[in-house]
Amino acid sequence: MKLAALDKCPRIETDRLVLRKWEPRDLDGLYRLNTDPKVGEFFRTLNSPEETPFLLEVHLLKQQKDGFCFPVIEDKATGAFLGFCGFNVPLYQEPLFFEPCIEMGWCLIPEAWGKGIAVEAANIWLKFGFETLQFEEVVSFTVVQNLRSRRVMEKLGMIHDPAEDFDFPGVETDDPLCRHALYRLSKEQYFRHLNDTDIDREVPAG
Ligand SMILES: CC(C)(COP(=O)(O)OP(=O)(O)OC[C@H]1O[C@@H](n2cnc3c(N)ncnc32)[C@H](O)[C@@H]1OP(=O)(O)O)[C@@H](O)C(=O)NCCC(=O)NCCS
Repeated sequence: MKLAALDKCPRIETDRLVLRKWEPRDLDGLYRLNTDPKVGEFFRTLNSPEETPFLLEVHLLKQQKDGFCFPVIEDKATGAFLGFCGFNVPLYQEPLFFEPCIEMGWCLIPEAWGKGIAVEAANIWLKFGFETLQFEEVVSFTVVQNLRSRRVMEKLGMIHDPAEDFDFPGVETDDPLCRHALYRLSKEQYFRHLNDTDIDREVPAG
């Protein structure tokens, strides 16, 4: 099957979640994420409320170009916007040393934290990424102090080599948000982790 013919971000439903592309109706949800200081604790820049429509436009254009851009997570029962989780192709002014790469990232409204939602969504996208899109490797990175996010990476079986920790380009080295931990998951490591755990990574019907 040709990659170009695949929907790289299909709508997927689990018992409690809907994973899907960004839509213009997600403006309020993105606004909530952008303006919540708890959510932004480890982000270098909190986007101003005025920037949210532009940011949504960027997400929509990027998902059109790459096929995905950190897809949305929605509460299946209520339709409420919970945040995002999934793949992205990073595009920074100063490339990171491991680019080009497929990044996996997540961000939830605080009410959705602590329920395993990021891990559930990420596991589904990993299966899709490695088994359908035939990715060779997925990376994830965060500020070293972001233990919640690092725990998600560890639960996904991603591997951290401290020798690959890096200073984010353009950030002062004395800035507490400069130092980042990089986690990688190769196709081989993914399948090994799958065999070693009882994780149910069945992609439910959309
Ligand atoms: C990171 C985030 C998506 C995690 O979402 P989540 O699905 O609610 O994850 P959980 O709260 O279930 O936590 C995942 C794990 O981290 C652990 N954890 C939570 N807080 C922790 C802390 N302060 N220190 C260490 N581990 C912590 C949890 O115990 C859980 O592990 P367990 O299941 O083994 O108990 C969510 O916290 C978030 O959106 N944060 C703000 C945005 C962000 O930082 N995104 C990442 C940018 S790279």
